Amino acid sequence: MRAVLTTAAGGPEVLSIGEVDDPRPGAGEVLVDVVATAVNRADTLQRMGVYPPPPGASDVIGLECSGRIAELGEGVEGWNVGDEVCALLAGGGYAERVAVPVGQVMPVPAGLSLVEAAALPEVATTVWSNVFMTAHLTKGERFLVHGGAGGIGTMAIQLASHLGAEVFTTAGSREKLDFCLSLGATRAISYRDEDFVEVLEGAGGADVILDNMGAKYLPRNVSALATGGRLVIIGMQGGAKGELDINALLRKRASVTATSLRARPLAEKAAICCGVVENVWPLVASGAVRPIVEATMPLEDVARAHAAMEAGGHAGKFVLTL
Ligand SMILES: NC(=O)c1ccc[n+]([C@@H]2O[C@H](COP(=O)([O-])OP(=O)(O)OC[C@H]3O[C@@H](n4cnc5c(N)ncnc54)[C@H](OP(=O)(O)O)[C@@H]3O)[C@@H](O)[C@H]2O)c1
Repeated sequence: MRAVLTTAAGGPEVLSIGEVDDPRPGAGEVLVDVVATAVNRADTLQRMGVYPPPPGASDVIGLECSGRIAELGEGVEGWNVGDEVCALLAGGGYAERVAVPVGQVMPVPAGLSLVEAAALPEVATTVWSNVFMTAHLTKGERFLVHGGAGGIGTMAIQLASHLGAEVFTTAGSREKLDFCLSLGATRAISYRDEDFVEVLEGAGGADVILDNMGAKYLPRNVSALATGGRLVIIGMQGGAKGELDINALLRKRASVTATSLRARPLAEKAAICCGVVENVWPLVASGAVRPIVEATMPLEDVARAHAAMEAGGHAGKFVLTL
């Protein structure tokens, strides 16, 4: 089958299209004929050689896809060949076919095309699991998400605002700040010209923060938390090692969690996907939450999509079609 090959660790130019063996669905897996996949920041790290796939996962990059079920592995129930689905993957999405554990297969939300649905699995599962299952954001609480115009940020703003939180976010340009406001943020803060700590302290502190910056923002995120606040770190765009003021945390009775989705046990990922189908898909079907797509391009343009993501001018996701 056709797939994206990574010939060496490096820049987008190391990505090319080539032939690899077809995957076979194991017990408890389904084989999906991929219609579309999408680019995640982790894909760029895997391409650079700093984020290898977990044991047992495909070497082919790609953490999500949409498509049609082509074959059912042993013991799979509840799905049929031909069903239109989208899926969360541990790898293998940049290819014509992928084998997926059945717990990570989700129906396409009503009203969406298969191509649109490819933009959802990774952002929906990441935001649902971290903001709602781990940090327990509730109606009326103040929520800060950094990088509101990115793939994760655009989903986090929409979900949190529709579920009744007061949403604060950061972004790097006027255009992106305005876009975040249009998605439901109540206050969009320029990370270039403003201090998010001042803004949040002035508002009473953040009950939940979803952070993509890691070390660079750790002390300031702790300062921005309200009493009982929960900081969830999912990215290290600003480095991995920082200093934590335990005294500040202790006085606020606050918590810091860091999570990664990809290497979690199958049962945990299945529970997250169930939560997404139950809680997020109805909001997508009603139009309250929508996939935000910067550009859709053929798989052959994968290097261009990676370069564009790294250049950082985008809002939302890059979708690749097969
Ligand atoms: N742990 C997990 O399971 C998991 C899962 C998925 C994603 N992630 C992580 O989540 C992060 C976002 O992923 P993504 O797919 O949404 O990537 P993305 O679309 O490329 O978004 C990156 C975001 O970072 C923002 N940013 C850059 N510098 C910033 C700064 N100084 N302060 C605040 N924001 C800044 C950008 O804002 P501007 O565009 O406005 O400059 C952009 O919105 C990545 O770090 C990724 O690795 C983790």
